[in-house]
Amino acid sequence: MILIKLGGSVITDKTQYRTFNRDVVSRLCKEIRDSGAGAIIVHGGGSFGHVVSKEYSLQNGLIDFRQIPAVARVQYDMRELNLMVINELLNAGMPAISVPPGSCFMMDDGKLIVDDPKVLLSASHLGIMPVMFGDVVFDRSKGFGICSGDQIMEVLCTIYNPKKVVFVSDVDGLYEKDPKTNPDAKLLTELTSELLSSVSGESGIDDVTGGVRAKMEAMLRITTPERECVLVNGSVPGRLYSLLKGDEVISTTAKGGL
Ligand code: IPE
Repeated sequence: MILIKLGGSVITDKTQYRTFNRDVVSRLCKEIRDSGAGAIIVHGGGSFGHVVSKEYSLQNGLIDFRQIPAVARVQYDMRELNLMVINELLNAGMPAISVPPGSCFMMDDGKLIVDDPKVLLSASHLGIMPVMFGDVVFDRSKGFGICSGDQIMEVLCTIYNPKKVVFVSDVDGLYEKDPKTNPDAKLLTELTSELLSSVSGESGIDDVTGGVRAKMEAMLRITTPERECVLVNGSVPGRLYSLLKGDEVISTTAKGGL
């Protein structure tokens, strides 16, 4: 089984509130289907999740009750995005269902807690693809918090033990510097914990879930000697398909754990 995260930067326009990249998502769903990989998909929030979360500092938990309408708004926006992704998966012939992370998980001081993976396992045993996504989730100590798609990926690794994990983004892989502001930045084909300390983790986009550095750390934590974790550019047609088929493609592979 391959665990795939469709990042918010590829499924939405991160700079424009609530802008869905339908054509890209439709193509990516077909690439996943055509590859024949048994996949479980998670997706990020992009401009459906980060814009309002940032405006109301939802990542910091409950500070004041004026945040509450924003909690409800972000959950609403994320469900709309999730249903649009599910619709593209159904159109591609994959039996996908929506599983909001708050229906299975809680957080405690920002850490995702899994009490019971039965709902997820029941779906996948029937050949149904549960699709989770970054969202606002209740937190035992902070009231609520932002659960990122990357945190969900880590938890799903413990539940499904996938042989490969793929993060789909809008960049060719990880760079030593942000390639959008540093055009000469070098692509790292391999990411190790030693390299992480030398890499600049800044990202030009407002992000409430930690940006590039948090992603690199999550990728390294996910990696084991038996499991590789790859970051690939989903904006380039066919690249995800080739990666899933086992071809060498431009990408970054995390190696050696954190
Ligand atoms: C963010 O999830 C969810 C919310 C802000 C509600 P992610 O952190 O996984 O989203 P992307 O992939 O970076 O957009």
